[in-house]
Amino acid sequence: MAAADAPVKMAWGYGGSAMQMEGGWNQGGKGPSVFDVAYMDPAAHPTHGTPFRAADHYNRVKEDLGYLGQLGATAYRFSVSWPRILPNCTGTPNPEGIKFYSDMIDEIRRQGAEPFLTMYHWDLPQSCQDQFNGWQSNQIIDAFANYANVLFDSFGDRVDYWLTLNEPRANCDFCMKQPQFAPFTSTSEAVFYQCMHNSFLAHGTVVKNARARKDSATWKISLPSITDWHDPDPGATATSYYASTLLQVEWYFDPCFRGDYGPNIKKLFPLPTFTAAEQAMMKDSCDFIAVNMYNSNTNGMPALPPGENAPFTAQEVDDATARTYWPHPRPEGVRALPKYLYDRFNKDVVIAELGYHVPRSQETTYAQSIQDDLRVEYWRLNAPNLISLIKEDKVPVIAMLAWSLIDNYEFNSYEFRWGHIAVDYFDPVTGKVNTDKGSLKRTIKSSAFYMRDFFGNNTVSPFGTKQVKSSSTTTSAATSASTGVAVSTAAQASTTKSSGASNLVAHLVETLSAMMAGILFL
Ligand code: NOJ
Repeated sequence: MAAADAPVKMAWGYGGSAMQMEGGWNQGGKGPSVFDVAYMDPAAHPTHGTPFRAADHYNRVKEDLGYLGQLGATAYRFSVSWPRILPNCTGTPNPEGIKFYSDMIDEIRRQGAEPFLTMYHWDLPQSCQDQFNGWQSNQIIDAFANYANVLFDSFGDRVDYWLTLNEPRANCDFCMKQPQFAPFTSTSEAVFYQCMHNSFLAHGTVVKNARARKDSATWKISLPSITDWHDPDPGATATSYYASTLLQVEWYFDPCFRGDYGPNIKKLFPLPTFTAAEQAMMKDSCDFIAVNMYNSNTNGMPALPPGENAPFTAQEVDDATARTYWPHPRPEGVRALPKYLYDRFNKDVVIAELGYHVPRSQETTYAQSIQDDLRVEYWRLNAPNLISLIKEDKVPVIAMLAWSLIDNYEFNSYEFRWGHIAVDYFDPVTGKVNTDKGSLKRTIKSSAFYMRDFFGNNTVSPFGTKQVKSSSTTTSAATSASTGVAVSTAAQASTTKSSGASNLVAHLVETLSAMMAGILFL
């Protein structure tokens, strides 16, 4: 093999989060999360479904993790549900919850994947909300640090990569300020800034505690934030927050690397201030850059291109980014944003989320959701840029976690599917999406086979194959006896370029109607 064709050193795999996958909301000693309580009355969220059953991953975990090995994934990101571990926010840990994740970590390793553990992906215990108003209060900092210590004690012997808080901005902005999310406690901008601030301080405190421990030598900790790429970055102006990569980076990333919000974002918004001691604690509190990437924009916003109904070509993907729908699947961003972050912070990069949801118009049946030609096309355009990012731009990307492993719950909806493994949420009688009635059968999609082949050929894991270390809490896999893996031969055969059945206008219409229906993306 010529040197130029040699595989790059990068782990790759999939991600997911507890509330979006697990279901089992009151099984195994779990306490309610803020979402469980807010969505307890389905009438309050009539069209979108609840997280109570989700993909029932809690009861099918063995089957789901089996796909990692089958698809050749070398990394897997999952989140721990805080209320499954500490139903009362703090206090005595729930042994069944600890065992569930302990078994999960062992199984991930057995499948040949490196675990990336997210401590918090928005499913706050309702008990924290009741006791001190959750993220609005600085009491959350000690509560979160206490929870993190339970995780370190329980899983630190087998986990090296930790992600503290997923996307503080979405947790604070979407979940607190928008009525269709939970816990929806405030619409105030000041409360939103304080919530973000408390999140950063909670992260910094956890890292400070971790570094003081004797068992932390191999641990690497970071905080994943979502950021849009804008090309070229216009810098900071009063009107350009959502159109400026720099401003987003100054707000979401600078505290964990530089110890403070950047100067331009501070001029724009009245953010809370870090004391000198807090700045010292925050500086370099991220061991690596963790970025969730979905949007890549040009700044020109040209008019809609001609050929709306043409096949889903590279040019269309590029043009599509100029429009307003989400995500903007423009391949340049996959290369540009990690390079921008690496140039600024000079740390290893983990792409903690990257992916594409196929529009509803393309997936009105379970069979259609398996033959996900648009997602195959997305990866066909984007995946080679990840390789160029490492080979040509010399950015040390150590892992890429595609979002998501299985179709899951998008916080208030099952309508948009991000998975590389289909989950049958369709009511067999009506044919409509209904999580309570669907069989939840899994089937590998075309895109997962594409990924298996592309990344299998072009990457080698920097983590090697680690032995499963034995754990005091582990016995056998926690729950399901199901090991059957459904594979669609039609899907397997279709890892080549799609036929071009896509229609970008349909995508735009779908997205606009979803926005009107109150379904937002995070
Ligand atoms: C980012 C969030 O972390 C994840 O939970 C969500 O499903 C994806 N964006 C897609 O919206």
